[in-house]
Amino acid sequence: MREVHRLEQIGGSLPRGLLFYEPPGTGKTQAAMALAKASGYAFLKTSGADILARPDSWERIVREASDIRPAIIFIDEADDILADRQYSNVAPLTNRILTTLDGAGGRVRDVIFVAATNHYGRPDAAAVRGGRFSEKVRFDVPERADLERYVTETLFKFARGRYVLKQGTIGRCMDVLAGRAIADADAVIAEAVNRAATRAIRDNIAEIRPLDVSAAARTVLASETAGA
Ligand SMILES: Nc1ncnc2c1ncn2[C@@H]1O[C@H](COP(=O)(O)OP(=O)(O)OP(=O)(O)O)[C@@H](O)[C@H]1O
Ligand SMILES: [Mg+2]
Repeated sequence: MREVHRLEQIGGSLPRGLLFYEPPGTGKTQAAMALAKASGYAFLKTSGADILARPDSWERIVREASDIRPAIIFIDEADDILADRQYSNVAPLTNRILTTLDGAGGRVRDVIFVAATNHYGRPDAAAVRGGRFSEKVRFDVPERADLERYVTETLFKFARGRYVLKQGTIGRCMDVLAGRAIADADAVIAEAVNRAATRAIRDNIAEIRPLDVSAAARTVLASETAGA
């Protein structure tokens, strides 16, 4: 992306569109912002809901991107607007977006569209073919070892100089977080620290305990772990 001019001189091109897909909280939005930052592209963000609410905002953002190119146009929560048009009630908007991608010409292809979706199950076949959202990037929850490293680092960062990390705390985190996204780990740890902070103020005991983690998981993961 940084060398798009050279790339094109020698016959290459960037993909017009990328599709980031799969579970919530796995870093899709974050990765899109990081991509823009790392490659020196401007970052313009919209969402499926925004476009549905104000269809004209789509043309506006596309115009803005071509004014300030190179730019990434990020379409967050794009599930509805990229859904299979056969079963969708927003097909005209999907058409409009695909038409923009087809026509977003310009001398150099330096406006890139990135769409994020949590349900890859049924995207519109035409939306994900060449020249449109052709480059698909699957995001996933971390492997156990990676999650453990992340949890350990994050807990130590919070604890350092403030709390004693009681034995079993990391293990309890792994029990409640296995198979989950980093965003869930962040939420559970933040809530566990809240509980420790409350105890520190109330009882003057500065500890993070396994029980804080269990209680935090019940609070922030409640909807998905009923019965756990
Ligand atoms: N792999 C990761 N490394 C570090 N932080 C991460 C990672 N994945 C997610 N996060 C953190 O989790 C939070 C949620 O990430 P983000 O919003 O990018 O997820 P998302 O995939 O866009 O979720 P959604 O589908 O719900 O929009 C962010 O605060 C981000 O910093
Ligand atoms: Mg997101």
